[in-house]
Amino acid sequence: LETLTLLYEGKAKQVYQTDNKDEYIVHYKDDATAFNGEKHDTILGKGVLNNKISSFFFELLKKEGVPTHFVRREDDRNQTVLTLDIIPLEVIVRNIAAGSMAKRFGIEEGTLLKHPILEFCYKNDELGDPFANESQITALGWATQEQLDVISTITLKVNDILKKFLATKNVTLVDFKLEFGTHNGEVLLGDEISPDTCRFWDATTGEKLDKDRFRRDLGNIEEAYKEMLFRLTGERA
Ligand code: C5P
Repeated sequence: LETLTLLYEGKAKQVYQTDNKDEYIVHYKDDATAFNGEKHDTILGKGVLNNKISSFFFELLKKEGVPTHFVRREDDRNQTVLTLDIIPLEVIVRNIAAGSMAKRFGIEEGTLLKHPILEFCYKNDELGDPFANESQITALGWATQEQLDVISTITLKVNDILKKFLATKNVTLVDFKLEFGTHNGEVLLGDEISPDTCRFWDATTGEKLDKDRFRRDLGNIEEAYKEMLFRLTGERA
């Protein structure tokens, strides 16, 4: 990794250029941030857990025919992915009201929704990732309507696949965030799918097995991520 050029450093990951012009290496760090960077900490081992969990989900989605940037997991902290021209959107799916949605509408966390909700936010830290509707997105040129349609279809398919799979592991998929980009013009699912980007609740007890343990100072963050890796893969980290 030391020999590669660092292209980008985010809050939880680094992206490196490789000799192959079609591929990047993504390196998972132990850093955690919340509330748009206001809260920051290091969670020892988180990078390894998220790399393994996200790789597992992307393998599952690839098997189900979802077009993704994932190529392979290289080792504990690194994976090879296809290069993407980023579409600057955070695409959120909600099956159950929680987090910012519960707060915005003054409804109780855990309220069941009649159907999954799709939300788009403009990916911009300085602005705090504001909501954007499809009309705003196409007018500002962040994505075309055709791309938005593809993104919506993929996102709802990902929700179906993950929701069903997680149910067999006694985990409720409350909500999650996806990101997309294009590679040779094709829209691909990018970024990661992990307890940093999803809400996972134990289906029996309601125990939170995700980043809300960090955001809300609930403790046992690492243990929760380890439990998710175990339920998904059977691996004890
Ligand atoms: O905070 P909010 O309730 O809007 O988050 C909805 C879902 O999107 C959660 O699963 C959260 O982890 C994820 N999310 C994310 N990155 C953001 C904002 C939300 O992964 N910047």
